[in-house]
Amino acid sequence: MAIRVFLLVSSVLLLLLSLSAGLERLGLALWPPGLAGFHGPLMVSAFFGALIALERAVGLNEAWTFVPPVLMVLGGFLLALGQSFGHPVLLAGALLYVAVAAYIYRLQPADFTQAMGVGAVLLFFGNVAWSVFGNPPWAALLWAGYLVLIVAGERLELSRFVPKPARASWQFALAEGITLLGLLLYPLYPELLARVAGLGFFALALWLLRYDIAWVNLKREGVHKFMGVSLLTGYVWLLAGGLFLLGYGLPPAGPVYDAILHSVYLGFVFAMVFGHAPVIFPAVLRLPIRFHPLAYLPLWLLHGSLVARIYADFAGAFSLRVQAGLWNALAIVLYFLITATVSLLGLRERRPL
Ligand code: HEM
Repeated sequence: MAIRVFLLVSSVLLLLLSLSAGLERLGLALWPPGLAGFHGPLMVSAFFGALIALERAVGLNEAWTFVPPVLMVLGGFLLALGQSFGHPVLLAGALLYVAVAAYIYRLQPADFTQAMGVGAVLLFFGNVAWSVFGNPPWAALLWAGYLVLIVAGERLELSRFVPKPARASWQFALAEGITLLGLLLYPLYPELLARVAGLGFFALALWLLRYDIAWVNLKREGVHKFMGVSLLTGYVWLLAGGLFLLGYGLPPAGPVYDAILHSVYLGFVFAMVFGHAPVIFPAVLRLPIRFHPLAYLPLWLLHGSLVARIYADFAGAFSLRVQAGLWNALAIVLYFLITATVSLLGLRERRPL
């Protein structure tokens, strides 16, 4: 229990540091200063890396599988302290996590363990692109692919008992293949291959919208409905991110880069976090998490402020972009505050999970 709580608390701290680093990139002076250049690695390879690896380790319950999240947390804190030695530590954590994912695939060979395994490889390649090749746009694309495939794998697993036509499985494989083609070969023809990756994200979003059991959740009440709303709205953001990539390619920095990345990273990924938190946190902490309808407030705040940010990115409205970015971060903090408060105080309990 101690290691799980330690890793979860450390991940939350890394989330706060990476949000602060993101706001610093928008020009807002926050504490601790000097993290702007580490925003991407802190958010994706340290925070998400550790959280997802921790969830796997808890499921496997074998001591060695806890090493990757420990390394990712350590690497993240080293970066936050300004130690570039954090990069090799994050690389080692991601490499070991690939070994964990391969082990899971060997235990249970299936399309969903395969997708999650490919996701793990993309995390490692993203870290290599960042710290070995010094290519942030490539790293940002590979990391987006990592999170998209981890989520897609998770959804494949949860939807595997839902009857689907035979074509669904080759459609998924095709969408995954297109995504990988664009992501892995990106540096060869960045203009074209970013668009190919966008097509892949778009196709995966369509697949999820078509076959995910989230539609069934919509017809239920309470936390189930909330999960359905979070997931389906998140898929719409992935669709949008894919379309933006298709249309614009990936500029190496600037507002369009910001709009494309955060459609996926904030709109899709954080809607998934909101939707899965009622399942992931009880699994990791082995404690029930309570749901309260107030959780819709940060969800709609996230979507609304992201629409404003993307509008501002495309319209060149800099001060709106800064304010919207601040509200993006507040929506995330608010969600965790509401969930933690409601769970701890047992406020207006609806239904224990
Ligand atoms: C919530 C508030 C957030 C803010 C204010 C923020 C802000 C920014 C800014 C300003 C940039 C640079 C864009 C440019 O070049 O103009 C950026 C890049 C990036 N962001 Fe965020 N971001 C946030 C959330 C996230 C999240 C949730 C993720 C991942 C899950 C993420 C991952 C990235 C990555 C990978 C990059 C590219 C790294 C680079 O080029 O250095 N961001 N972010």
